[in-house]
Order: sequence, then C-alpha cells, then structure tokens
Amino acid sequence: MKNSNSFELDVLVREVGLRDGLQMFNTLFPTAEKLAWIRAEWAAGVREIEVTSFVPPKLVPQFVDAQEVVQGALAIEGLTVVALAPNLKGAERAIELGVHTLNYVMSVSRTHNLKNVRREREESLADFKRIADLIRSLPEGRRPRLLGGLSSALGCGYEGPIPLADVRHWATAYAEAGADEIMIADTVGYATPAHVKEAFRAVISDVGSLPVAAHFHDTRGLGLANVAAALECGVRRFDASLAGLGGCQFVPNATGNVVMEDLCFMLDAMGMRTGVDLEKLVAVREIVARSLPSTPLHGALARAGLPVNYDSPVAAI
Ligand code: COA
Ligand code: ZN
Repeated sequence: MKNSNSFELDVLVREVGLRDGLQMFNTLFPTAEKLAWIRAEWAAGVREIEVTSFVPPKLVPQFVDAQEVVQGALAIEGLTVVALAPNLKGAERAIELGVHTLNYVMSVSRTHNLKNVRREREESLADFKRIADLIRSLPEGRRPRLLGGLSSALGCGYEGPIPLADVRHWATAYAEAGADEIMIADTVGYATPAHVKEAFRAVISDVGSLPVAAHFHDTRGLGLANVAAALECGVRRFDASLAGLGGCQFVPNATGNVVMEDLCFMLDAMGMRTGVDLEKLVAVREIVARSLPSTPLHGALARAGLPVNYDSPVAAI
C-alpha cells in the first residue's frame, strides 16, 4: 500500500473522529478547529480522514459545515478525504464536492437501519446501487471510491446478536453492486476476537479481492483485541478516532471508537508501518480538548506516554 509520499504502509489507519466522534455533539465544533485537527493529523502522518457526513443538518447539526470542511480538507495535497452519506442525496452532494472516498452506510440489523436511516435494508441497498451507477457515469478522474459500510454487523443495541449469514448476505450484495471496499462495523462494541475472526474470514472469502476494513467501538474494552484478531485474518484497514471520541445517538449505550493513538502505538510496536508519528499524534488531542473542554478524552498512550527508550521496530525497517 502506498501513500502520497510513496513510502510503503503496512496498515491504513483512518481517522473517523471528526464524523463518528463529533456527530453526537449538538454544539458545533468550530469549522476552523475541525480543519486545524485535520491538518495536524495530516502533519502527524495520517493519510486518510473521514471529515464529515452528508446528512440533514436538522437531524445532525454538527455537520452543517460539511461543504466547508470538505473543501478545506481537499486543499491538503495527498490527503484522502472521506465523507459519509446514508442516501443518494447525501452522496450527490459529496460527489459534487469531489470527495475521494464515499462511505455509504446501512445496518445489517433491520431495527437499527430503520432507526438510523428510516428505511428497510433493501431500500438502502437500492440507493447504494443508484450511487454506484452515478459514479460509473462520471468521467474516470472524478469517480470517488465507494465504500460499503455495514453498521451493527457484529451485534446490535436493539436486536442483540446478528446472524453471520446476514452479514455475508449484505457484504456480498454490496460487492455485487460495485463497492470498492467493504467496511464491517461493530457499532456498539459487541464483538469478541473469536467472533471477529469468524466473521471477517467468512466475508473476506465471500468478497474475493475487495479490501475489507474494520470499524470497532471500544464499548466493552475489546477494541484493540478485536483489531489484533482482524489483523490475523489479513485486514489492513482500520477506523479509529482520536481520544476514542464517539458514540451514536441512534444506538443505546454506544461509546467511542478504538483510540487512534493506542491503535497506532500497537501497530508500531508490532512492526507494522502506519506512517504516523506517535508523539505528534498525541499532541493533536490539544486541539480537541480546547473545543470540548468538558468531554473526557480516552487513551492509554496519552496517559502513560511511550515506554522509556521506546525502540520502534518500524524505525529500523
Ligand atoms: N442531506 C441533506 N438533506 C437531506 C439528505 C441529506 N443526505 N437526505 C434527505 N434530505 C432532506 C430531504 O431533501 C428532505 O428535505 P425537505 O423536508 O426540505 O423536503 C428531508 O431531508 C427529508 O428527506 P427524506 O428522504 O424523507 O429523509 P428521511 O427524513 O427519511 O431521513 C436520512 C433519511 C437517511 C437522510 C436520515 O435518516 C439520516 O440522515 N440518517 C443518518 C443519521 C446518522 O447520521 N447516523 C449516524 C451515522 S451512521
Ligand atoms: Zn462507529
């Protein structure tokens, strides 16, 4: 895997805190501070950032500045700008602005899909197909990558366990409809490493050459253990959020994503190149803290610091 500086990466870490982390805050995180956060993570070596979501501002006021944030992020040369869209209308706005990757979401759980995007899963898939058609109709240089996200894929705050057959069904449907990547999300942190291995192995074998990414929430403290399990299955794309910000207003008891700093440290210590400078990444927390002074920031690396005389195996590669 190559990034814009064309040195090899072993794992792509994708920052989703600006979307998944901020969506539950009704007060606007100032646009200039979102852009400062994006620029600082870019400077720390993060190469792919989900910067916003194209949803009705009445429903999720945090993303009223979606256009400005995307335009600001697109000005950073080499950064892969990702935006979420849950329907055709949101996708059209994102595509028109020129996002590099569109993260489309539907839930494997029927109940969560109805609560989150107010439609049946079949209707969500039909919209995905319309988006894939729209993308195919564009000139080659203007086509974003289309990511098929499966929320509540490993457990649901409403339905509890989710049958693996359902995850496979919707992942295959995405692949057949033209997804460039499948993302499996444990939206409420139900998964265990054994469960992760079973689900990712099955989906990877179903979707052939398509990359499969993992999006874990740390609700029950198993986020990084689940990352390690997914790594064993060959997964090399992970979502995470700085300081573990996050949650979802449409899911009872959802908490934040895997902590970005801890994820990058774990990968680094395992000898896997992420391109990220750990100390610079930890320093980005100050930007989040100044706009969310009363929000707890999570993260073991920030709390404990790097081990004394930490000898990164990556530095030697
Ligand atoms: N961006 C902006 N406006 C949008 C929109 C979008 N993506 N999609 C729909 N709208 C507008 C419509 O134009 C319509 O406007 P109008 O009332 O002025 O005519 C209004 O919103 C309702 O449209 P409708 O198609 O009936 O949507 P809905 O009310 O059924 O909502 C979703 C569907 C998908 C847009 C909404 O449920 C949603 O955004 N869910 C995502 C929530 C979320 O962010 N979850 C966390 C991340 S997974
Ligand atoms: Zn999430």
